[in-house]
Amino acid sequence: MIQWDKQKLESKLAYCIGQIDNGVEQFGDSFFPLDVSVSGRYDCYYNRSWIPGFWSGLLLLAYEVTMDKKYLDVARRHLDSYEIRIKNLSDVCHHDIGFCYSPSCVALYKLTGDERAKKTALAAADAECLRYKENGKYIKAWGAMDDPKENRIIIDCLLNLPLLFWAAKESGQEKYYEIALNHLHKSVDLLIRPDATTYHTYVIDFNEGVPVMPKTAQGYADDSIWARGQAWAVYGLALAYGYTRDESLVEKQIAVTNKFIDLLPPDQVPAWDMVFTDNNTLKDTSASAIAVCGMLEMNRLLQQHKNRAVWEQKICDMMSALSEGHLVGNRPGTSAILAHGTGSVPHGQGINASQIWGDYYYMEALVRLYKPDWVQYW
Ligand code: GLY
Repeated sequence: MIQWDKQKLESKLAYCIGQIDNGVEQFGDSFFPLDVSVSGRYDCYYNRSWIPGFWSGLLLLAYEVTMDKKYLDVARRHLDSYEIRIKNLSDVCHHDIGFCYSPSCVALYKLTGDERAKKTALAAADAECLRYKENGKYIKAWGAMDDPKENRIIIDCLLNLPLLFWAAKESGQEKYYEIALNHLHKSVDLLIRPDATTYHTYVIDFNEGVPVMPKTAQGYADDSIWARGQAWAVYGLALAYGYTRDESLVEKQIAVTNKFIDLLPPDQVPAWDMVFTDNNTLKDTSASAIAVCGMLEMNRLLQQHKNRAVWEQKICDMMSALSEGHLVGNRPGTSAILAHGTGSVPHGQGINASQIWGDYYYMEALVRLYKPDWVQYW
């Protein structure tokens, strides 16, 4: 078991809960945070884009820590918007449906057995399957399914596969498992380089279904190592191993994790792209929190592995670094938790700011440390 300072752990959890309380007041039952923040404050937004699930997930984490039903009640009241969104297939013309529905509806179902949450999450899995292309056997990341110009897979999608693995288990229908497994194999083959660094995306020929070339969207260069992408690989492969018990994933997951660790700057917080290994390049704190969750998940699944002790120390170092220099702080008017995240440098979005996914993964990491028997939401 990881010995991260218990007092620190409790005080950081209390801080998160305080920020979530501010969010509850601001967003009420119907709104969600916008994907960027100004000075630790998110504007109100709707159930759109890829991120609302992280707010619902934070509420559920807060409920699990405090057992205060007020958080659960708000997360329950979010269900209407998830249900309507998936029924109308509104803003789901992308692969990120798992990010929306796992930490919200799947988590609510796992926690409470809510049948409406289960039904909604299964409908979301069906929507994810609509992105699957049989010729090539992959989930198309972005764009209309009949658009030949925008046709690629991306590393982030590893976090959307648990929705399908979960749906297969819950429904008994093989098709979800097959689609997830095929996409997983394609991602491992194309997106993980022989040195265990990762490409962000890989363009696929629309008609032939064959790989064309790697290409970044949010990283520094096509051949660089976008930090959040590397972190998605760390966590995504761990979760995929949990569902499949495919032993070939163990070596891959350990390799991408060790690479993530090797590329950390001395201050233990990754630059937004891991080609930069100095302390002073713009950070992406969310990548750090995601990678910690991945390491904790793999350590939970594999009681014995050769890197375990090193990772345990690294988890403490990374969490201390985030907690000591990269929190927003409990200032009036703020609801964000983690500071110094990076949305997308090439798009000029969310630079050196808080993002709700960073907040979510930081708190998930705390909860994993606080409750080692925590049932994961993915
Ligand atoms: N789409 C997920 C990300 O920006 O990391």
